[in-house]
Amino acid sequence: MRALEEDFAGRVVAWQRRHGRRHLPWQDQRDPYRVWLSEIMLQQTQVATVLDYYPRFLQRFPDVAALAAASLDEVLGLWSGLGYYSRARNLHRCAVEVVTRFGGRFPDSAEQLQSLPGIGRSTAAAIAAFCFGERAAILDGNVKRVLSRTLGYGADLSVAAHERSLWGLAEELLPRARLEEAMPSYTQGLMDLGATVCQARSPDCAACPVTELCEARREGRPEAYPVKTRKLRRSSESLWLLWASDRAGSVWLEQRPTPGVWAGLYCLPLFDSRAALEAALPEGQQAALEDLEGFKHVLTHKDLHLHPVRVRLGSRALAGRPGAWFTAEQWPALGLPAPVRRLLLPD
Ligand code: ADE
Repeated sequence: MRALEEDFAGRVVAWQRRHGRRHLPWQDQRDPYRVWLSEIMLQQTQVATVLDYYPRFLQRFPDVAALAAASLDEVLGLWSGLGYYSRARNLHRCAVEVVTRFGGRFPDSAEQLQSLPGIGRSTAAAIAAFCFGERAAILDGNVKRVLSRTLGYGADLSVAAHERSLWGLAEELLPRARLEEAMPSYTQGLMDLGATVCQARSPDCAACPVTELCEARREGRPEAYPVKTRKLRRSSESLWLLWASDRAGSVWLEQRPTPGVWAGLYCLPLFDSRAALEAALPEGQQAALEDLEGFKHVLTHKDLHLHPVRVRLGSRALAGRPGAWFTAEQWPALGLPAPVRRLLLPD
């Protein structure tokens, strides 16, 4: 592996500087708060979407102390539409811990960063590499693909011991010199290669800076890597949403319990069946129900089949349920599940 090791990092660094994603708002600076925020947002969200949310977030919370001092409700409101809301809950918990455990300054090593909520091994390494030039390896889904292909690493990565061994190889491949400049470019370069060149299907090997080193390419079967046999078991669930509005145009929302789907977000009342939805309404209202077109919403582990049912109610009709009426001026600022927000938005 020696020759590969020596060549690999240099090629990735040079490629990133010419062809990688550059001049994004969270790059070209080393403020751990800004880098951390971008890394959490980018975990499961496209760059184009993050470009929209990131400046708004920073404007409201310019530093970690401002974020720690905010209510979770407000953080969820600004996160609304980005999905994977456990990220937003951990973001807030992490800000609070940076203030209480570290006096308001992010720790400056991957090891300590990893002790904070929502920061896993790969995210900790990315922050430490970008901000402090630490020689720490990342291994997210994209990078697993790039490295397993380059190395021809064919062991099953759903086995923990094999994944651990790929972490070890990722560490051997890291740059060894001029780490302050090399580590940020190398780390970003691996991410960019995985996202734009070494894609899961039809990788663009002709555009790849490490194509001459790549074992999977030599074998003529890049798409055979990474090997992952254990599949995520998906389930599905049908839910009925009660979209109740009053004469003034307010909408009834209830905060979702924790744990569970959309924990902590404000949501239309959810029911397991249409009969259960009807039973929640006052006598005599059932006839006024309007069934809207159902649609599917895909979560990580589950497909939700959502059936919205519309009704206009008097403002006292849902008294006793754990929710409240929110006006058209109020609800857009709340943390709402993305499909609920889309439903409520006027065309
Ligand atoms: N995904 C996670 N971190 C990222 C980054 N820094 N740039 C682009 N995509 C990413």
